[in-house]
Amino acid sequence: MNTATTITTTPFAEDVLEGLSGKEKHLSSKYFYDDNGSRIFMQIMKMAEYYPTGCEFEILSQQSDRILQQLPFANQEFNIVEFGCGDGMKTRHLLATFMAKGANFTYIPIDISQEAIDTLEKNVRAVLPDIDMQPQTGDYFEILNGLAQNSKPNLFLFLGGNIGNYRHEEAVNLLKKFNAGMHKGDMLLMGMDLKKNPRTIQKAYDDPHGITKAFNMNLLKRINDELDADIKLDQFDFYCDYNPKSGEVNSYLVSLKKQHFHSTVLNTTFYFEKDEMIWTELSQKYNPDDIKQLATETGLTVAHNFMDCRHYFTDSLWIK
Ligand code: AVJ
Repeated sequence: MNTATTITTTPFAEDVLEGLSGKEKHLSSKYFYDDNGSRIFMQIMKMAEYYPTGCEFEILSQQSDRILQQLPFANQEFNIVEFGCGDGMKTRHLLATFMAKGANFTYIPIDISQEAIDTLEKNVRAVLPDIDMQPQTGDYFEILNGLAQNSKPNLFLFLGGNIGNYRHEEAVNLLKKFNAGMHKGDMLLMGMDLKKNPRTIQKAYDDPHGITKAFNMNLLKRINDELDADIKLDQFDFYCDYNPKSGEVNSYLVSLKKQHFHSTVLNTTFYFEKDEMIWTELSQKYNPDDIKQLATETGLTVAHNFMDCRHYFTDSLWIK
């Protein structure tokens, strides 16, 4: 491999170079969500096997009045700041309930995909034409730092179970950054998938429709398109497994033969053994004690867990 003349231009290019060069190959799940990947993820959320979406939908459509009651600033002007909002199908129930109860808030959804933000804005405005909404496209923390100047109390939303993509130490780091952007009394409502029957979890990720496979394969498609590479997509497969002891779902791309590909942008050839794995994603599952411990390590306190009727998923409300 020739690294001396490598020109790396973007974080994606640098991370692909680093992730596919060593022995333990890996690509970050944060790169799933270009416009195409965000579209595939919306298909995942419609699959019957992918229970988290329906669970969180149930929680937000049935318990949003109780969530509002838990906010110490419910009778003042406040912001609802949503990280990684997707298409807004679930959040709009919370927003609608809050508005119906007379809450006085500005909704600030933040996502890295412009297409996702556009879809969200359309969806939300269609049902809530009177909403005060200021959508933002970009990096969570740049925007969070900008908001820290703002003196209104904040409810932060980090829904869908995105925290599960972070290993424990990384999750603590991320949540400490959220904490740093919070005033005393601000709250965080965070979607967390719970430990449950392992077959239920396995089926949600190892789906029979091949949609989760397509979601993972999109990483390779992005490498071909954005880094001018010649990966033969049909020479890779998808694999995932749930470990009930650790609570981890790990996802991988598997090389079906000994092969290599070249990227002209990275000026590098990457080599794969037959059956070599590229780790692509962690989807961590929690129990209530795991959640309490994570909150404590982050310097926040669990105020309440809002769970669906089957106790598959929680929207966990934390206070600073
Ligand atoms: C969006 C991170 C919550 O881990 O369950 C869905 C992404 N990956 N199917 C998850 C995902 C495979 C999802 N999160």
